[in-house]
Amino acid sequence: MRIMVIGGGGREHAIIKKLKENPAAETIYALPGNGGIAADAVCVDIGAKDIPAIVRFADEHDIDYAVVAPDDPLVLGCVDALEDIGVPCFGPRKSAAIIEGSKVFSKNLMKKYGIPTAAYEVFDDPAEALKYLDTAPIPTVVKADGLALGKGVTVAMTREEARGSVKEIMEDRKFGDSGSRVVIEEYLEGPEVSVLSFTDGETIVPMVSSMDHKRALDGDKGPNTGGMGTVAPNPFYTEAVAEECMERIFLPTIRAMKAEGREFRGCLYFGLMVTKDGPKVIEYNCRFGDPETQVVLPLLESDLLTVMRAVTEGRLKDCPVTFRKGAACCVVLASAGYPGSYGKGYEISIPENVLPHVFVAGAALRDGKLVTSGGRVLGVTATADILSDAVCGAYALADTVAFENRFCRRDIGQRALSAQ
Ligand code: AMP
Ligand code: GLY
Repeated sequence: MRIMVIGGGGREHAIIKKLKENPAAETIYALPGNGGIAADAVCVDIGAKDIPAIVRFADEHDIDYAVVAPDDPLVLGCVDALEDIGVPCFGPRKSAAIIEGSKVFSKNLMKKYGIPTAAYEVFDDPAEALKYLDTAPIPTVVKADGLALGKGVTVAMTREEARGSVKEIMEDRKFGDSGSRVVIEEYLEGPEVSVLSFTDGETIVPMVSSMDHKRALDGDKGPNTGGMGTVAPNPFYTEAVAEECMERIFLPTIRAMKAEGREFRGCLYFGLMVTKDGPKVIEYNCRFGDPETQVVLPLLESDLLTVMRAVTEGRLKDCPVTFRKGAACCVVLASAGYPGSYGKGYEISIPENVLPHVFVAGAALRDGKLVTSGGRVLGVTATADILSDAVCGAYALADTVAFENRFCRRDIGQRALSAQ
């Protein structure tokens, strides 16, 4: 089989390594991939948002199957365009990817179908939003409607901060058209849990739960990032919580999407908060999470390609999906300065025996050598029978990887360990 994976980060590297375990995956192309992914796939210099070029490539190279991993191409209709030329895909069509592409859509969906989430108001006029903020309960949360590179959410601890965020989103258009509407919602408290799921629109199979660490610095301090590390499973996702989620959130969501004529096939990601009133949805993503995938897929026992094709073909009900019992931890190594400005082009050294544990996110090849090219450079994942061993293992492996200005959090997994 000739497989094409759209995207070029650590998540895509984890997907590609897992797909490769199936001998039927003869050739894997990554569009665009990156310098590290190049060790496991044929990288092609086509951007993940360049849908006409992606379609042309698929056509010219007789691609048998495509995995569309990032949010942008999914929301732009990459799956629809590939299906139009007969390429089966893993990932939702545009009509279903809107569950991530528009927060107003997803909030209204949850309200209509009684799915637990934070109470909210929607505004398309900045003056109305600012007036509402005069009396809104504080803290409050301001969200741009559309995609904003994960930066469109402000948890405002003061009225002033909330007003500033509305102005940035709606008046300064910091995120372009994504800011033509805002959602202002109730502030919720509780531990956060990420649950990725496989769904073909009828059947939903949650994967092992995980916990992201979004802030840049130890102790959950500093600015928000794309994720500095993850652990799986998440100890706050108890069996009782899992049952409640299946009944009140997961099944109602896929049924709601189907009822709206927007059947979701692919990986549906539930960002949850376990509040004192039970689990509530913080956000939906229409794709695998990054860096959640880097701990979830190493624990997947089943063959990923087989499961993905069952999703695509609507046969998930008959496809066993199993995870192994242990735990996993991924430590992200970044360039100092990230998520602000940082240097690039530093050579990366990774011992040969550590390579299987490494998922490369921001690195390029220069004269055959791997050099840093992004803020988050790579993730290192270890698995073990118990979480404490996975955490120690991930740091032991990560500390063998060297590059100039290397930076990581030293407390990935500590919150999970203290909850056990
Ligand atoms: P997002 O960019 O949608 O992943 O949101 C970023 C972070 O904002 C989430 O991981 C939560 O920590 C926080 N957040 C989002 N919505 C709420 C809410 N209603 N209450 C409290 N925190 C929230
Ligand atoms: N780790 C959060 C996300 O992928 O959106």
